[in-house]
Amino acid sequence: MEKAMTPRHPLEGEILYSADQILRGIEGLAKKLERQFGRGQEPVCLVGVMMGAFPFLCDLARALLTTGVPNVVTDHLFIESYVGTAPDGEPRIYRDLRMPITDRTVVLLEDIVDTGATLSCARAHLLAQHPRQLITCALLERRNANPNPPLDHRVFVIPSDAFVIGYGLDWNGQGREFDDISVINTDHARVMERFFSSPKEPASV
Ligand code: IMP
Repeated sequence: MEKAMTPRHPLEGEILYSADQILRGIEGLAKKLERQFGRGQEPVCLVGVMMGAFPFLCDLARALLTTGVPNVVTDHLFIESYVGTAPDGEPRIYRDLRMPITDRTVVLLEDIVDTGATLSCARAHLLAQHPRQLITCALLERRNANPNPPLDHRVFVIPSDAFVIGYGLDWNGQGREFDDISVINTDHARVMERFFSSPKEPASV
């Protein structure tokens, strides 16, 4: 049964995609990728941009297994670019992959593409290691994002002005654990903002 599209947390505004819709979208993506990979036995490397793409990476790996792609290996690229609801300077890689990707089929997974700067940074970093094939996928793409080059696959397109949370996407570290994707409730975020903008006490050791 489809779950009710009702916010369960004060930070959640209107729910755009329920957990069921997200999983169905990811299953559709797995089928498209399976056709694109062909029938080889070579492992396919799934690389998630952290932290936001974590649930996407796990659910896509599971969906690929169900679709008949058993040789999947997963790794993570840690990139930082946002503070609160606004970009904060150039994206910066602060933790690299652990697996070699040279001459491999690599699927790069982003939670959301907005300006495309994070995607470009990750893409350039991976291409420098000469994968055989690099396929880019985003769970969400903002309408009017127009990354260059364009994404190979996106699961959902969201309105250009919506800041969203849930299913890996956060606001100041909150909301990643929500299983739906919703727009942020700005009234609640404004109340919480005071907490994040207050000066930090020095850590006592
Ligand atoms: P871009 O580099 O401008 O494409 O922004 C992409 C990155 O910004 C994503 O990997 C997210 O970390 C973050 N981001 C952009 N929009 C949102 C949002 O609506 N919610 C949460 N994070 C977002």
